Amino acid sequence: MRKSFLLLSIIAAISVVAAEAPAAQAAFNQPGEKTEVSRLMNIVINSLYKTPEIFLRELISNGSDALDKIRFQSLTDSAALESNPNLNVTIAVHKDKRIITITDTGIGMTKEDLQKNLGTIAKSGTSEFLETLSGDKADMDLIGKFGVGFYSVFLVADKVRVTSKNNNDDQYIWESTAVDDFTIAKDPAGNTLGRGTQIAIHLKEGQDQYLDDAKIQQLITKYSEFINFPIYLRRTKTKTVEAETPKEADTDDSEEPKVEDAKEESPAAPVTVTYQEEDLMNSNKPIWIRDPKSVTEKEYQEFYSVLTREPESTPMAYSHFKAEGDVEFKAIMYIPSKAPKDLFQRVDHVHSNVKLYVKRVFITDDSAEFLPRWLGFLKVVVDAEDAPLNVSRETVQSNKSIKSIHKHLVKKMFDLLKTLSADEDKYADFIKEYGTSLKLGALEDKAHIKKISRLLRYRSSNSEKYTSLESYVSRMKKGQKHIFYFTGANVEEIQQSPFVESLLARGYEVLYMDDPIDEIVLQHMATFEGKSFQNVGKSSLKLGDEDTDAESEKALEEKFLPLLDWMQATLLNDIEKVRVSKRLTTSPAALVANDFGWTANMERLMEGQAKQNKDAAMHQFMKNQKKILEINPGHPLIIGMLERASKDPKGYENDKHFQEMAKVLYDITLVRSGYTLKEGVKAFAGRVENMLRVNLGVDESAEAVFEAPQAEDRDQEEIDAEIEKRGDILKADDVEPGSMTPDELNRMLKEYTESTNPPLAGPGGKKVEVNVDDIVAEAEQELDNEETKEAVHDEL
Ligand SMILES: *[C@@H]1O[C@H](CO)[C@@H](O)[C@H](O)[C@H]1NC(C)=O
Ligand SMILES: *[C@@H]1O[C@H](CO)[C@@H](O)[C@H](O)[C@H]1NC(C)=O
Ligand SMILES: *[C@@H]1O[C@H](CO)[C@@H](O)[C@H](O)[C@H]1NC(C)=O
Ligand SMILES: *[C@@H]1O[C@H](CO)[C@@H](O)[C@H](O)[C@H]1NC(C)=O
Repeated sequence: MRKSFLLLSIIAAISVVAAEAPAAQAAFNQPGEKTEVSRLMNIVINSLYKTPEIFLRELISNGSDALDKIRFQSLTDSAALESNPNLNVTIAVHKDKRIITITDTGIGMTKEDLQKNLGTIAKSGTSEFLETLSGDKADMDLIGKFGVGFYSVFLVADKVRVTSKNNNDDQYIWESTAVDDFTIAKDPAGNTLGRGTQIAIHLKEGQDQYLDDAKIQQLITKYSEFINFPIYLRRTKTKTVEAETPKEADTDDSEEPKVEDAKEESPAAPVTVTYQEEDLMNSNKPIWIRDPKSVTEKEYQEFYSVLTREPESTPMAYSHFKAEGDVEFKAIMYIPSKAPKDLFQRVDHVHSNVKLYVKRVFITDDSAEFLPRWLGFLKVVVDAEDAPLNVSRETVQSNKSIKSIHKHLVKKMFDLLKTLSADEDKYADFIKEYGTSLKLGALEDKAHIKKISRLLRYRSSNSEKYTSLESYVSRMKKGQKHIFYFTGANVEEIQQSPFVESLLARGYEVLYMDDPIDEIVLQHMATFEGKSFQNVGKSSLKLGDEDTDAESEKALEEKFLPLLDWMQATLLNDIEKVRVSKRLTTSPAALVANDFGWTANMERLMEGQAKQNKDAAMHQFMKNQKKILEINPGHPLIIGMLERASKDPKGYENDKHFQEMAKVLYDITLVRSGYTLKEGVKAFAGRVENMLRVNLGVDESAEAVFEAPQAEDRDQEEIDAEIEKRGDILKADDVEPGSMTPDELNRMLKEYTESTNPPLAGPGGKKVEVNVDDIVAEAEQELDNEETKEAVHDEL
């Protein structure tokens, strides 16, 4: 009997209140053992059951188990159900008495069962349990092996009465007030249940929240909405009926209608009656346990909207399967038609969308262990046959079977995507929503990188549609060794890049990478089907079809040497070197990153990153990696500049105009290649202005003449307001050169223009909008126009 006494002490420990103990128990409560018991309870309370509300889940599960047992028995013994043909769980809240009753029509317990099941903590026994606990670090896995689920009821109750009727015995009552010994006695009322178990929970002080029907309903739906048996909540309702037709109340399905305030004086007036009604709480039958062949498309969709709690939503695709092997489970996996907006904000704070059930009983939906991060968009229901149910989710997570479930889910996900990708048009929808997730997978999931690379899709110069890497490779030119790609903020920007333009001119296909993550992913993948990826903006680009005539190449280098020297000397601080390009077609020049430097896209990406994290030093280092300036030997502007440089190979120091021109060319190239202006827009604009002056023959140092109207003194308040308003613009002045994107520059310029007093006015008083692109275009035109070229020639 020692074991049951220990158990009761545990119960006593939960409720804390220590009343007079019977002699037997007093003997048991040795100081040393008492501490052990408290320690056990601490573990139970703090680790096993973090939230008291799960008592309802545990007891409904118990009821469901009992129902499973009688149903199983009825398969071989058809008389088993005769004692009560209903199979359900009914829950009722008795507010006035502070009691919740949970009644199931399951198999019920005999007197012996009550003694055995509720008299000890499962079969293994408490003392053994205590022995397994070594030191302060209890092995959480072990707790699950002891059937303590039922005892969670004492987290909210100070008295529990279990009435049970098994087909093979009379009806018995087990009662425990949590302080005293339990009692088991034959129910003097006789067989009131027919069959099954009723648990009456007398709530402790401070647990009034469970007296609220709405709270109970919420808990039932949260934990047990997919329980295999109907769960009813019995509620007291009121309704108004016409007094002359009191019979009406009898015709409906209410139980014992009771006229509360019949107003005899005015028989015509309506009266209010209260009655009880049982509402079904779990109308959603688990469809995952059914044979997939028997489930309709509509049912899958309905279940999806229940699962996601989005009534109107439909899934993009789903998979319903059964897994066998080391762990047996059934699952339905959905891909939502729209990716959640916060999908990638959640990346750090992982939130899994897997609902885990064990034998139809909800365990957790808060475990990150079931899916890798990059599949965080899936909605999955898993119903396992053999994971231990009566454990906290901490225990569930550490269990090996979780790893096995994880593996299965990922595999099934790939199967699903393979099916989906058979229809490229449909698959495009998936790529639009989850392309980035796949790429994240390529970064994080080394084991599956091959599979993922086949599922990726990119925009390309080949067509408007997405292409797979596989089909790109199938279209590669004879002798083409690399998969060409270029990165940028959007497809339009990429298409306009001088790098891309030259490849297209040669008839190559270029992949357009417009997702910020692309560049990193490709660096990670390195190759696809043996073909390496080549960013066409990198210095190492070899097309393989270049004029392999080394002699003519050398001759070209030699021919342009004076210009290369001049430019190198002028742009010493900005670039690594200048070289003659083999790839440019229509642009005069382009900037390429060396192989370990950042491309413009990457730089922009990292800019955003650097604002958030502390990698500032690394960021500056990478950013300051000098680029290579390639000049187009066929471009008239370059030819003109060469002529000028050839005239006096050492003369660049004295040729201020050439220096300006080279710098403007560099700035323009910077912007066209997608980088930000290093020295900010002010220096650039200054140089363009100088060139305009030279062209017009205006004195370069002459200052604008104007008579500023003397502003009246303003009061301090006005000045403060103005300063406040201009705060942003003033701050922008402090911005480090080159650290702004063209967009930011444009915005700043716009603000500046708007705030200039008097406003800059074009012809006819029209306000002038200054735009970086315009300045670049203007400067380009300036460099390119006949007058400039003539001027260059004249100087020769
Ligand atoms: C559930 O079972 C009980 C006990 O047999 C029965 O009285 C009740 O009518 C059943 N509830 C419903 C809604 O069928
Ligand atoms: C609840 O389940 C536990 C573990 O299976 C069992 O020991 C206990 O008897 C059940 N309690 C009731 C009241 O059905
Ligand atoms: C708890 O786990 C034990 C062992 O796995 C099992 O026998 C028992 O039925 C479980 N209890 C509940 C409430 O399911
Ligand atoms: C996980 O749970 C299963 C089923 O109860 C059990 O057989 C297995 O031993 C557990 N594994 C671990 C590592 O605890």
